[in-house]
Amino acid sequence: MKKIALEIDKAFEQITKEQVYAQASKAEACNKELENGTGKGSDFLGWLHLPSSITEADLADIQTTANSLRAKCDVIVIVGIGGSYLGAKAVIDALSGAFDALENKKPVIVYAGHNIGEDYLYELSNYLKGKSFGIVNISKSGTTTEPALAFRILKKQLEDAVGKAEAQTRIVAVTDKARGALRTLATKEGYKTYIIPDNVGGRFSVLTPVGLLPIALAGIDIKQLVAGATEMEHLTGSNVPFENNLAEIYAATRNELYKSGKKIEILANFNPKLHYVSEWWKQLYGESEGKENKGIFTAAVDFTTDLHSMGQWIQEGERTIFETVISVAGAKQTVEVPADEQDLDGLNFLAGKRVDYVNKMAELGTQQAHVDGGVPNIRIEIPELNEYYLGQLLYFFERACGISGYLLGVNPFDQPGVEAYKKNMFRLLNKPGY
Ligand code: PA5
Repeated sequence: MKKIALEIDKAFEQITKEQVYAQASKAEACNKELENGTGKGSDFLGWLHLPSSITEADLADIQTTANSLRAKCDVIVIVGIGGSYLGAKAVIDALSGAFDALENKKPVIVYAGHNIGEDYLYELSNYLKGKSFGIVNISKSGTTTEPALAFRILKKQLEDAVGKAEAQTRIVAVTDKARGALRTLATKEGYKTYIIPDNVGGRFSVLTPVGLLPIALAGIDIKQLVAGATEMEHLTGSNVPFENNLAEIYAATRNELYKSGKKIEILANFNPKLHYVSEWWKQLYGESEGKENKGIFTAAVDFTTDLHSMGQWIQEGERTIFETVISVAGAKQTVEVPADEQDLDGLNFLAGKRVDYVNKMAELGTQQAHVDGGVPNIRIEIPELNEYYLGQLLYFFERACGISGYLLGVNPFDQPGVEAYKKNMFRLLNKPGY
């Protein structure tokens, strides 16, 4: 099997390769801290060996639930926010056809509880009217306002449409094993439930039922996803020396860039299907590292689309950025540029070439331009966009995030800052106790 590759040679100008490799023993020590559970936030390390510890029986159970919901529902609503939906959406979007929803491929996967948009909920409710739908409600704490609010509305709609008893068979809850309102509600209503382990935080939970159930519901092969993640778990283990350890090298490189004044990391892709992989990554690193008044600000762009919007800033704006590009080695489908006798658009120089070839040249040209413009470049290549390599990519980013957070000196597994807005909102809403 191939694996994802990491190239850092275009990151060197302001920093040197020697500087990165001088961090080898530190990065290795951080990886060992993860492995030995001796670092900050060590009660949240359950994700570390998730891939290799998920059993066939666990996966089969998730698949059975997915199959039974798929059999009776044309639409599945995934209710969750942050780590409770981004990983699933990242994988589903990456591996689904761009026009599946328009072609009404069943089941259609839609999302709720990731915003408080009244119009959004109204339109979702309207869309669901007359359709056979089910709900997967995901919340580790079981008390998050956004998904709780959406679930209350959708549960009522489902019960009104099919009756309480049938609704009960179409609702699955993924939550804490004992705590939180969702656990109480699910037990009382008799829903099928899955547990989010205590020691796995939301943004590291894509390889638990939080991500795996929605992904299986979308008809994506969760065994292959986990197999890819398992391989990456081995490849990035603390027993793998720095020079071969992609997670340690990525973590060390981005921290050296940060120390040299590159405060913003822009994750760029050249495949629109990866948009939500970037959203997931933004949360993973942003929420893990942005604390104690430090941390790289995570941003993301879709190229070439955003070369026509953010390209100017990246090329000539403040030189505080570096770029990490995710590149997919080969497109799955083939579209060739046709020859045209008249050549009125002047594109005959591309006749017979694949669109992916044009895209690759755009990527190379962009890399050269941005590096010349003072933007260090890290490149991650995925051999192909499939379950296996996405599994590798997700785990790679998780492992590197843990190491990177420790290199930065923060606890990558908490998020104390997220509470501030909630307190104010609850006070403004007159929630009892606020
Ligand atoms: O990573 C995290 O911890 C957060 O993004 C949570 O996933 C998010 O806030 C949702 O929390 P919960 O699953 O408790 O509803």
